[in-house]
Amino acid sequence: MAQDRAAALAEIAAQVRPCTKCELHLSRTRAVPGAGNPNSEIMFIGEGPGYHEDQQGLPFVGRSGDYLVSLLKLIGLTRDQVFITNVVKCRPPGNRDPLPDEILTCKPYLDSQVDIIDPLVIVTLGRFSMARYFPGAKITQIHGKPKYENGRAYYPMFHPAAALRAQALMPQMEADIKRLQEVIAKVKDMRAAGAAPAEAPKDEPPPTQLLLF
Ligand code: URA
Ligand code: SF4
Repeated sequence: MAQDRAAALAEIAAQVRPCTKCELHLSRTRAVPGAGNPNSEIMFIGEGPGYHEDQQGLPFVGRSGDYLVSLLKLIGLTRDQVFITNVVKCRPPGNRDPLPDEILTCKPYLDSQVDIIDPLVIVTLGRFSMARYFPGAKITQIHGKPKYENGRAYYPMFHPAAALRAQALMPQMEADIKRLQEVIAKVKDMRAAGAAPAEAPKDEPPPTQLLLF
């Protein structure tokens, strides 16, 4: 399974790197498919690559990334232990917001990554990934409040760049990341108690556990 996930993610990355499906391919240096542990319990979804990400082909390697890594450290994690990606895989020129049609065109890649990793928790960083799971919500009202659905938690956090701009948000960012451990434990309990996994494997018989009941 570990091998399968890594191979499946590598296959997505191989499709993303030469992708020309939306206009963002015209101005990018490198596409940024995402990086990290294919078997991570936590998946972070940001907005889109910035300057440094575009140069290196890796997510969250600039200032926002440094800050995200410092937050992860508070809960004993490194960037390699989690999986980090973005709503759009190519840098919007001048770091403008990604457009709705760009997000929609890029969506199948992110959908596949979520299916493959099947994380216990999806942490949304910023407005555009939050909108996938909390349409119409306001981050100031819902940050740090998990939504449990189909054996998974969706957990909205401020974007690290927002906290770097408005440092008064930093204590909230720290409190929110620390709460992740409790959220993960709750999802594990839910899954152990028989909540269906968020993405049931398609071509497999039901798990033996279910057959016992
Ligand atoms: N901001 C994002 O949303 N994603 C990155 O990868 C880097 C900065
Ligand atoms: Fe393709 Fe997504 Fe890049 Fe657009 S942003 S070119 S859809 S990988």
